[in-house]
Amino acid sequence: MAYSAGVDVGSTQTKAVIIDEDGAIVSRALIDTGANVVMAAQNSFNMAREDAGIGEQEIEYVIGTGYGRYRVTFGNAQVTEISCHGRGAVKMFPKTRTVVDMGGQDTKAIRVSPTGEILDFCMNDKCAAGTGRFLGAAAAALDIPLEELGPTALKHQHAIRISTTCTVFAESEVLSWLGKGKKIEDILWGVHQSMATRSAALLRRVGIEEEVTFTGGVTKNIGMVQALEDRLELKVNVSNDSHYMGALGAALFAMDHIFESRRSPQESVEK
Ligand SMILES: Nc1ncnc2c1ncn2[C@@H]1O[C@H](COP(=O)(O)OP(=O)(O)OP(=O)(O)O)[C@@H](O)[C@H]1O
Ligand SMILES: [Mg+2]
Repeated sequence: MAYSAGVDVGSTQTKAVIIDEDGAIVSRALIDTGANVVMAAQNSFNMAREDAGIGEQEIEYVIGTGYGRYRVTFGNAQVTEISCHGRGAVKMFPKTRTVVDMGGQDTKAIRVSPTGEILDFCMNDKCAAGTGRFLGAAAAALDIPLEELGPTALKHQHAIRISTTCTVFAESEVLSWLGKGKKIEDILWGVHQSMATRSAALLRRVGIEEEVTFTGGVTKNIGMVQALEDRLELKVNVSNDSHYMGALGAALFAMDHIFESRRSPQESVEK
């Protein structure tokens, strides 16, 4: 049995996934990227290997993706995260035609063909509004853990309209609403709605075709899933592995390479 791996070194978190020849995930690892990007890549890969009890030699091909993909020093190749999220999403939800990836720094809208090829994509321009960082700023201002953002927001009764689209000003706006006596859950729901509106606008730029698959770390936030579904007026695909979608896509591209080199070993060596 051959194994391949994908290592998605994101701006915020690093994800590693190992798959077998059937494309099934055998293990996964998630760590904060931190300042040492090379170490984050290596550590996540080692954690995933150790978890599965698989030696380094048994992993025939490794592909790096994400903003730090060139820092996956042990990797054999790199593929962009747009391609990897598209590929992973179509593998996990075969009817996917539109992908929205919400990560720590970027939100990306991707349109894919039935076979997972990228038809179009678009991302937020050098601005963290509508990304995990926007939520992180709100969480910091309200002094609540990231994991509780979504569940708290879902308790809202009277949503507050958050007018700033800037992460830097989000904190002061949140604090000013708190000062006016508004409830945390109502303010937070406003933050989620604001993000959903921005993401929907991004998705419209590539064209929204069903099914829509939501990927990246923000999928862990059930409030964001709900806000996005409300705004798009449709259900989005999410699974427990949605945070690993880019790493899964990278591992699938790596497995393609293993199969190709079996078919034409000489050609593959020459590449
Ligand atoms: N348990 C959780 N609950 C809520 N939000 C979470 C949770 N885990 C992660 N997140 C969110 O996911 C974000 C990280 O997502 P992800 O790993 O997809 O980002 P990334 O790939 O590092 O960033 P980018 O793709 O923008 O470079 C965090 O910033 C946080 O907002
Ligand atoms: Mg990412």
